[in-house]
Amino acid sequence: MAEIAKVAVIGAGVMGAGIAAHVANAGVPVLLLDIVPKGADNRNAIAEGAIAKMQKADPAPFMSKAAARLVTPGNTEDDLAKLADCDWIIEAVVEKLDVKQALYRRIDAVRKAGSVVSSNTSTIPLAALTKGLGETFARDFLITHFFNPPRYMRLLEIVTSPQTRPDALEAVERFADFKLGKSVVHCKDRPGFIGNRLGVYWLQTAVVEAFDLGLEVEEADAVMGKPMGFPKTGVFGLLDLVGLDLMPHIHASMTAALPKNDPYQQAVRDLPLIDRMLAEGYTGRKGKGGFYRLNRDGGAKVK
Ligand code: NAI
Repeated sequence: MAEIAKVAVIGAGVMGAGIAAHVANAGVPVLLLDIVPKGADNRNAIAEGAIAKMQKADPAPFMSKAAARLVTPGNTEDDLAKLADCDWIIEAVVEKLDVKQALYRRIDAVRKAGSVVSSNTSTIPLAALTKGLGETFARDFLITHFFNPPRYMRLLEIVTSPQTRPDALEAVERFADFKLGKSVVHCKDRPGFIGNRLGVYWLQTAVVEAFDLGLEVEEADAVMGKPMGFPKTGVFGLLDLVGLDLMPHIHASMTAALPKNDPYQQAVRDLPLIDRMLAEGYTGRKGKGGFYRLNRDGGAKVK
């Protein structure tokens, strides 16, 4: 297929906004779509937030003109019609199979022939995502799993199916490498692929053990961060970054897909503290804070 000249990202949350900002900053026009909250007076608030975040990033990034033009219309049929001139459509909505599939049907009705559609799913196998969506869609579809934060994490996991067009894969790989500076790793179509099959297991086990040992959050992270060669956020800081609300969806899709005797099944345990935090809206950095009570605007501790 021809070069990817225009990209769309659907879902302007933690990942979608970051991916769109990164693409835009590479100088490529990108459309960022999300559901506009009822009564919102600024339909472009999410894109403006993504740009502001990018401006605050350390080290300060180069800002392309395209990044400054990042816009967020909604997800009505009129908004989705704008996908018609996009070459690569990246889905980054909530980790729920039914929501993603319903969106693919709407995308498929408006996208141009030969455009590529990919999912940023953390865990859902490709075969499940494309089930019932028809051969043409399956040929144009792959998984492109970015890591958080998309600007800094170089890894991009790619999953294809036997139906995926080789030239669609090539175009995405070329773009990811030359425009986005990513290192592509090809994964089998397994729950959690490679990164999350290992990474989420590690994260979940570490959290459960820290609770069982009665460790303070800071105590656990002081050890399970940089000193041990793990992400500098530590375990609980990483959960705040990822979003606590994402974890139940990840566990649901992983436990449903893995055999009953898989070690992951034993690692997943209901943690009342996290349930309570979620019930009170402490989803992590993207919301009003998480374990560290950091909010999206920076380091304020509100505890
Ligand atoms: P998020 O909850 O921060 O954002 C999801 C966004 O999707 C929300 O803004 C929501 O309004 C929007 N949305 C939901 N349904 C929609 C629809 N039908 N049309 C348009 N927008 C819709 O979620 P997050 O964390 O950004 O995750 C998105 C995807 O990326 C998920 O599949 C997740 O598994 C994956 N992912 C998440 C990572 C993380 O660290 N948070 C890392 C890598 C992948």
